[in-house]
Amino acid sequence: MVETKIITVDKNRPEKDKIKKAAEIIRKGGLVAFPTETVYGLGGNALDEDAAKKIYAAKGRPQDNPLIVHISDILQLEKLVKEIPERAKLLMDKFWPGPLTIIFNKSEVVPFGTTAGLDTVAIRMPSHAVALELIKEAGVPIAAPSANISGKPSPVCAEDVAEDLAGRIDMILDGGKVMVGVESTVLDLSEKVPIILRPGGVTREQLEEVLGRVELDPGLAPGEKPRSPGQKYRHYAPKAPMTLVEGSIDNQVKVINELAEKLEAEGLKVGIMATAQTRHLYTRGHIISAGDRTAPLTISSNIFSILRKFDRMEVDQILAEGISKEGIGLAVMNRLYKAAGYNVLKV
Ligand code: TXA
Ligand code: MG
Repeated sequence: MVETKIITVDKNRPEKDKIKKAAEIIRKGGLVAFPTETVYGLGGNALDEDAAKKIYAAKGRPQDNPLIVHISDILQLEKLVKEIPERAKLLMDKFWPGPLTIIFNKSEVVPFGTTAGLDTVAIRMPSHAVALELIKEAGVPIAAPSANISGKPSPVCAEDVAEDLAGRIDMILDGGKVMVGVESTVLDLSEKVPIILRPGGVTREQLEEVLGRVELDPGLAPGEKPRSPGQKYRHYAPKAPMTLVEGSIDNQVKVINELAEKLEAEGLKVGIMATAQTRHLYTRGHIISAGDRTAPLTISSNIFSILRKFDRMEVDQILAEGISKEGIGLAVMNRLYKAAGYNVLKV
């Protein structure tokens, strides 16, 4: 056990002295959790293999799941990669800083401990003042997976991080709740048609505006083999079994009400993940609205915290509404499929 310091920082203008302390921990090989625009990350020096080992140990992360390297300045990129493809330059111009992770061929500087033995490295520049200041002050790129115990919902606030990692890491920088709430989009540019390895904060539609056609890795479908090592694991799993209900809104509500009635008759505690448009239509269960269907960012920023809330409420079964896969909805549905272990009911 280590003592985990929790330090509140101003998320727009982080205090210099606090960032300095956190950066010093990173430089000395320690671990600091920090906010990004997507989710909280668990940071360590990306160039230090021992720091990478500590990250895997603290999260209980499978050894073959590579880490994303975070930078604060384009100049850092050149040292970390063999070459910067033209298409990457276009994307960096448009989406960095922001929730887009690009896969590059790695240079010698990046240890295999960070990339889980791969010759490629995933890199992103987050758009969050605390993350950027921390990387700048540390003077090294920061490797950071989401700051949760492997397999659990990703952390969207410092309390989520503390719930999972207090006693295992040196510091948590508390910058309040994140904006996007689902992780960055991971993009592979090695094929003729770029491939989304993980849908995320930058949408497929946005990428296609810059690149033309972009594919979603067919390996993300249940039972297939994903191209990205981390995508094969069950993720974001709440404690209770979860059923995701997809279909017209009317059918979703009808079926969820019927299921809830049946489960409650069996004496079970039921959690319902609804939306602003439907919450008043439920007559049973513990109802939480994820957000407004016409403003999907309100939903993406809430799904992980609702799953954690249902854990704390100790519900026996979760019934969740599906939403449209347009825009960020694609990333939301990818996370909900996984949280449900692909237990999907089409109605
Ligand atoms: O938004 C985010 O990306 C957050 C914040 C903290 O930046 N980080 C994050 O990291 O989600 P993590 O470790 O939870 O997910 C990293 C994903 C995994 O699915 C992993 O397999 C993939 O990125 N990845 C990393 N390096 C890769 C590589 N060289 N090739 C293919 N996939 C890679
Ligand atoms: Mg993760």
